[in-house]
Amino acid sequence: MKVCVIGSGTMGSGIGEVFAISSNEVVLYDIYENQIANARVRIEESLGKLRDSGKIKEEPRDIVSRIRFTTSPSDLEGADVYIEAVFEKPEVKAETLKKISEVAPKKAIIGSNTSSISITYLSKFVSNPERFLGIHFFNPVPVMKLVEVVKGDRTQESVVRKVFEMVKALGKEPVISQDFPGFIANRVLVPLIREAILLLEEGVATKNDIDKTVRLGLNHPMGPLELADFIGLDVLLDIMEVMYRDFGDPRFKPPITLRNLVNAGKLGRKSGEGFYKY
Ligand code: 3HC
Repeated sequence: MKVCVIGSGTMGSGIGEVFAISSNEVVLYDIYENQIANARVRIEESLGKLRDSGKIKEEPRDIVSRIRFTTSPSDLEGADVYIEAVFEKPEVKAETLKKISEVAPKKAIIGSNTSSISITYLSKFVSNPERFLGIHFFNPVPVMKLVEVVKGDRTQESVVRKVFEMVKALGKEPVISQDFPGFIANRVLVPLIREAILLLEEGVATKNDIDKTVRLGLNHPMGPLELADFIGLDVLLDIMEVMYRDFGDPRFKPPITLRNLVNAGKLGRKSGEGFYKY
């Protein structure tokens, strides 16, 4: 199967990597050369980890050889599946989906890795929208087992079934969600992280103790503030903005602290500082 992943950030590169591990031909596309170069390094490092821990048997370089790293739109022609993984901004996703629709064969499946934006809304920018759906991976993609398969109002049932099987063939566990803001995972996670930020704002506990409580008391692998830094505070803010707008409910309202950190360029791990310093 030929799979094109559009957007080579953390999520896009992880998605390209897992398809390549499963012997698919992958095109990893970005408009930025430097993003593509970073994606290659990230994938090589990740495959190295998987090889060291015996989770893959094949040589990383053989897996990487199945990925075409490109900024050339003509490489996107003739694929079976397209997955967009660009910024979590509705207008950026809309533009990207229009471009994908221009190059994708009519029968190709088109998926969005959006975390929160309505699939039915995004389907307005896809030609033949019955072949469009959400295929939402989790970070770090090569490690996390779950994929949310999101059915928009126009998604054909047979497309959902095909993608469900495709996800299983990647060694992942699919779940099916209807098209509601935040789907399943972020509907649960966003209020959790938001509440942790409010605990911090209200001075109820230190950031270390908030994270320690959730790690040791609730057995989460990371505390909510650490996890926020790991997801990226800008990404988290984008998700909260969409969910707050769509639900109109204070459960999803971005806390001031989060907004201030993002405005100060403190985006979490990737920028060297967020709630914590790295
Ligand atoms: N590629 C390959 N392997 C990786 C990896 C990567 N990028 N990152 C970690 N690993 C492997 C390590 O090599 C290690 O393997 P081993 O156990 O065989 O040695 C294993 O994963 C555990 O990693 P570490 O020992 O380095 O560190 P941790 O035990 O702390 O685990 C973690 C790291 C897997 C990230 C864990 O902390 C975790 O599960 N955190 C929560 C992640 C989470 O909740 N993700 C979802 C975020 S929400 C999201 O993505 C949705 C979006 O819409 C916001």
